[in-house]
This record gives sequence, structure tokens and C-alpha cells, in this order.
Amino acid sequence: MRIIAPSILSADFSRLGEEIIAVEKAGADWIHIDVMDGHFVPNLTIGPGVVASLRKTTGLPFDVHLMISDPDRYIDAFAAAGSDYITVHVEAATHLHRTIAYIKDKGKKAGVSLNPATPLTQIEPVLGDLDLLLIMTVNPGFGGQKFIPSMIAKVQAARKLIDAHAPHVLLEVDGGITTGNIGTVAAAGANALVAGAAVFGSNDYGQTITALKNA
Ligand code: DX5
Ligand code: ZN
Repeated sequence: MRIIAPSILSADFSRLGEEIIAVEKAGADWIHIDVMDGHFVPNLTIGPGVVASLRKTTGLPFDVHLMISDPDRYIDAFAAAGSDYITVHVEAATHLHRTIAYIKDKGKKAGVSLNPATPLTQIEPVLGDLDLLLIMTVNPGFGGQKFIPSMIAKVQAARKLIDAHAPHVLLEVDGGITTGNIGTVAAAGANALVAGAAVFGSNDYGQTITALKNA
């Protein structure tokens, strides 16, 4: 089962609702929502108000990726906005174990994301508490960046770790995914794949998502 999660960061922000409806029709499994605060990453995107507005456009799971400092401040707001997965960055969460427990107390699925330079060992103590582990294959902040090939080994290591200690955890990979590399990333053990520019930069979402599912 290969989950395709188009990232709306690369969508037309003047028509976000229509774009979500279009990718759902095109076969998207999740909607990946990149939240950036201009502090943890050098870009600023959308907040909980926009997520709440988008919630009524689709029943697909909202895979909310918080690239923000001190994410504890916003878990309530993104939970109330209708997020299904709330993923925080290990580099931004001082009390990660508590943050994960809080997300789950809100009835949401808890994810943790690792920047390319952050070793897997950082999340080992909490791996069993997770619903999702998100491996970045670009340095976060922008869509349309180039996939970092050295991250394949990290995806493989994450797959081994999950299979050995926490088989319930979904492994998601995010950044620079295309029809050209998705086969390798899925073979390395990814269950869910984020694709922003590959989907929204194409002129046929259905064709692209089908290709991403089958490549
Ligand atoms: C980057 C975001 C990614 C990005 C993926 O900071 O977390 O989700 O939007 O977009 P592409 O697939 O274009 O790299
Ligand atoms: Zn993302």
C-alpha cells in the first residue's frame, strides 16, 4: 500500500480548495499541509484558520507538517482545525515525549519529522509512541527542491527500526519525490510519500498520481 500525499505548498494558493478537490479526484490518499513560521524554516505559509477552511473541501486525511518553533503553542489550534496527523520536528520540540502524548490526548495521530542532518537515534526513545515517522529528503522550507540521495540509507534504517520495534508506525518520506525516484524510496521502505511540485507542477494530476503509485 503506497500512500500518496500531495503537498499543497506547491498548489495555486488562490484556488486551494479547488486544488484539493482536484487531487482527491486524481487519486490522492492524504493531503499534506506544510505549515511554516519563518523562524524554524526560512518561509512563511498558512495557519490553522486556513486549515479549518480547507477542512470542508474533502474527507481525505489532513497530514499536517508543522515546521514551526515550539509547536506546543499550536497543537490545540491545528487539532481543532481538523488535522488528522499532526507532525512536529524533533529539532523544534524541547519536550518531545510530552508533545506526542498531548497530540494523542487530542485524539489526533502523532508524527515526528527529522531534518536531513538529524540522526534517527534522536527519536528512538519515543518511536513506539508514534503513529508516523516523517523523514525529510530535502532541507525544509520550500517545494520543488532536489531529492537528497544520501537519505535513502536513512529511510532503510528507519524501516528496519520500525519493523524491529514499532511495526504500527507509518514511515513517510517528504521532499523532492518524483516518478523517477519514488520506486527507490518505496523499495527503501516508505509507506507514504509526499509530492508537491511533482503533482501540482504537472498538467494532469490523475496521470501523475497514477504514475507515482505505480512507478
Ligand atoms: C518542504 C515541505 C515538503 C515539500 C515537498 O519543507 O515539507 O512537504 O512541500 O514538496 P516537493 O515534493 O516539491 O519537494
Ligand atoms: Zn512537508
